[in-house]
Amino acid sequence: MHITGKLLAVLLAILLETNLQGQSPALYHEPFRPQIHFSPKEKWINDPNGLVFFGGTYHLFFQYYPHDIVWGPMHWGHATSKDRLHWQQQPIALYPDSLGYIFSGCVVVDSNNTSGLGRDGKIPLVAVFTQHDPAGEKNGSNRFQNQSLAYSPDSGVTWIKYQGNPVLKNPGITDFRDPNVFWYLPAKKWVMSLATKDRITFYSSTDLKDWKKESEFGQDAGAHGGVWECPNLFPIAGPGGKLYWALLVSTNPGGPNGGSGTQYFIGEFDGHSFHPSDPKSTTKWLDYGPDDYAGITWDNPHGRRIFIGWMSNWLYANQVPTKTWRNAMTLPRALALRRTEGSLWLVSEPIGNLDHLRKTAIDRSNIRVKASPELSAGYTLHTEGKPYRLHLAMTGDSSFSIVLSNSRGEQVVVGYDKDNHRYYIDRSHSGVTDFNTAFATRPSFAPRIGAYKKVLLTLVVDVSSLELFADGGLTVMSAIFFPEHPFTDLRIVSPRGTTIDNLSYWELRSIW
Ligand code: FRU
Repeated sequence: MHITGKLLAVLLAILLETNLQGQSPALYHEPFRPQIHFSPKEKWINDPNGLVFFGGTYHLFFQYYPHDIVWGPMHWGHATSKDRLHWQQQPIALYPDSLGYIFSGCVVVDSNNTSGLGRDGKIPLVAVFTQHDPAGEKNGSNRFQNQSLAYSPDSGVTWIKYQGNPVLKNPGITDFRDPNVFWYLPAKKWVMSLATKDRITFYSSTDLKDWKKESEFGQDAGAHGGVWECPNLFPIAGPGGKLYWALLVSTNPGGPNGGSGTQYFIGEFDGHSFHPSDPKSTTKWLDYGPDDYAGITWDNPHGRRIFIGWMSNWLYANQVPTKTWRNAMTLPRALALRRTEGSLWLVSEPIGNLDHLRKTAIDRSNIRVKASPELSAGYTLHTEGKPYRLHLAMTGDSSFSIVLSNSRGEQVVVGYDKDNHRYYIDRSHSGVTDFNTAFATRPSFAPRIGAYKKVLLTLVVDVSSLELFADGGLTVMSAIFFPEHPFTDLRIVSPRGTTIDNLSYWELRSIW
């Protein structure tokens, strides 16, 4: 008995050793793998697509290349969830075909079967997406992007391409893509927002197949550092319950901190055209950080608008140092409209049910952070590489920094610079940064919107990302990073000293 026990122990040790040496880390727990954000099991992803809620399930489709960890012939990958936090990856929904790759688009619930694609009284889900023909692009045509349909008779499990594709043909505009469609009830018709090079073109249809051009918006509005992509137009309640319309438009390059970024416009939509409320306002960015692109929202008539974006940037997305998979989505974020500085702004906050992931909590009040310019001084919490959500309330608006670090001296600094009235993220010493010179060369900045006597912020940190929601979500910054070893400490420092009135820290449970 004794000998057998010993033998077993030795065998176990050998087994463990082989496991440690010979095998790759467990799926979803590889180095840099986000623990509270969606990322694919393996291979490449970019934009979220087809966000739809149907039959109690949230769907997230995404730009997917299943054969490599770089961008390639696009498919639509698919994941489903009951809470938009825990995701199950499903079989690929759409494969490229003779009309081209499957670029970004949306999915609608065709409740009245306006498309006629529903059978046996079942409500069809209809995907509207761009087909990008690489051969056409190569041979110099300017009509290589067209809009197509696919439908699912079984709540999103299987997808059938529509025989009459493409349904919206290119009139000769090189960038003609990323349809986003919703049902406009007052006129009982579908409305599509389409990115058409340097503007958004609106189309309408009663059957999703036959599309009529309604209007254009944006040629002389907003930021035009790059081509416009991935529009999303939706109604949103403003102050006093008044209904406004928000139009999200991604642009690449030309983002607020270089490369990719998503701007937005607030205005009115009459079923034909979009009219911004303050056409002269400066460009408003949904996220001033470097890593939030091509995001769109779930159309959920009974709940808050929930946004999700691709947490990367075309500047370096193809080179970030992950090995088996590449790129992740942002946290789902609830959007609201707030008036300040005489203008309407979208505010974002992490989705409400994030608290379901809370594992442990620390609450403190009245913490005095002594004045020190040293980033090694200040108030420290040990985070041990685990994901967390931090809330801070501070009276006064002294400059401060939040430093995420490990014992190797790698760090990411996120903070507020009172003198320049702005927030910033500095990842210049964040670990692996040499895969692309654009990644860490300069800090990212965001203007502080409004004048406040208090600082109220939420910071969500995962293994390789941070998302800052400052001033109740008026200023948002998202950034990814790749420390050689997980960041184990969180320090709050302030050059002139400050008082933290309240600090609430939640360690969050992995979703995998
Ligand atoms: C945005 C984008 C879209 C396009 C897709 C291709 O990131 O360029 O305009 O549909 O990616 O993957």
